[in-house]
Amino acid sequence: METRKKISLKPFNTFHLDVLTDLFSEIQNLEDLQKVISDPELSSIPKLILGGGSNLLFTNDFHGIVLKNNLKGIQKIKEDDDSVFIQSGSGEAWNDLVMYCIENNYAGIENMSLIPGTVGAAPIQNIGAYGVELKEVFEELEAVHLKTGEVKLFRLADCRFGYRDSIFKNELKNEFMIVKVTLRLSKHPVLNTSYGAIETELKAMGVTDKNIRAISKAVCNIRLSKLPNPDQIGNAGSFFKNPEVSSEKYESLKKDFPELVAHKTQGDKMKLAAGWLIEHCGWKGKQVGNVGMHKSQALVLVNYGHATGDELFAHAKTVQLNVKEKFGVEMEMEVNVI
Ligand code: FAD
Ligand code: EPU
Repeated sequence: METRKKISLKPFNTFHLDVLTDLFSEIQNLEDLQKVISDPELSSIPKLILGGGSNLLFTNDFHGIVLKNNLKGIQKIKEDDDSVFIQSGSGEAWNDLVMYCIENNYAGIENMSLIPGTVGAAPIQNIGAYGVELKEVFEELEAVHLKTGEVKLFRLADCRFGYRDSIFKNELKNEFMIVKVTLRLSKHPVLNTSYGAIETELKAMGVTDKNIRAISKAVCNIRLSKLPNPDQIGNAGSFFKNPEVSSEKYESLKKDFPELVAHKTQGDKMKLAAGWLIEHCGWKGKQVGNVGMHKSQALVLVNYGHATGDELFAHAKTVQLNVKEKFGVEMEMEVNVI
């Protein structure tokens, strides 16, 4: 295992920010990871696990060691009449795992097609899209403690998954490297087309016989039509979470803004469409210097080419404050700011 010094992270983050890391190592197997953990020279320096870099905003150079995850391998570990348990190395691309499941007709993650990044990052924020979240198919994961090297198994309840949230974003932030993830997929697909746009897209595609492959294709088409491609324009997907408010707050906002977009969540709460709030503050498609909120999806902060992390962060703060002033609603950042 080679440790390189003063490496640019530009090819490793989807905002394309040209920041340096003091040290950089690629983790190809568990032995590599244990070597880093037991190296006395590395024990006290900050460690950053890097997957696809699609949910990170670097505001500065990183003074520590970046561990680029290359842990590979997808295998079926058990099955019964209804389910199949698929274990994946955490460095596999999430969408490769989705495609593997679709090829084999294992259902459950087709609605999450084309989410960028690695399998190991999926539990960090409990990724979700088009009506499905990771937690619905999650069985367990294995993680290695970055100080002790201890291997720990986390079951569903241990992960404390919430909307774009888990224990790994809170109490256990930066404590573990997730090395393997096991999902429970279904042999008898129950198709989820509850997200309205999927049905519309399936119709447009002329699909009469719905199956997981068709749903995956529909989701890909929708995503490609509105989310900017990070290869062409730097971004990290939704920059903020959709804020949850009480039903009272929602009713009072609705009086002033009858067009407000929201849907009910658990309990008595309403989840507001942050994209709508940002658009109605006038930020959609507006370029400020090198940055802006995207023209087709106001929730996506973009780098038009030469932005710094500070510039992106400052713009996000301006938009966040403006939404707070206009609607009295706090939007929490979804992206991990480093
Ligand atoms: P990184 O950005 O590399 O890391 C993210 C965080 O997780 C960091 O804090 C990192 O240290 C930590 N981490 C990564 N791997 C590990 C590991 N193995 N062990 C411990 N910690 C780890 N997200 C959604 O939920 N739904 C979407 O629909 C969606 N759409 C997107 C569309 C676009 C165009 C883009 C650019 C992003 C989108 N995202 C979406 C966000 C992003 O794809 C996910 O958050 C993804 O899971 C990040 O994976 P990554 O490997 O790139 O993580
Ligand atoms: N909207 C606007 N203006 C905009 C954008 C959205 O008014 O510029 C309104 C529209 O009414 C639209 C509604 O907001 O119908 C919802 O928009 P969309 O379907 O694009 O979804 P989203 O709530 O903006 C969330 C996730 C995405 C995920 C999609 C699909 C969050 C923070 N974002 O976006 O995840 O792909 O739903 O399920 O929950 C990500 O996390 O990075 C991400 C891209």
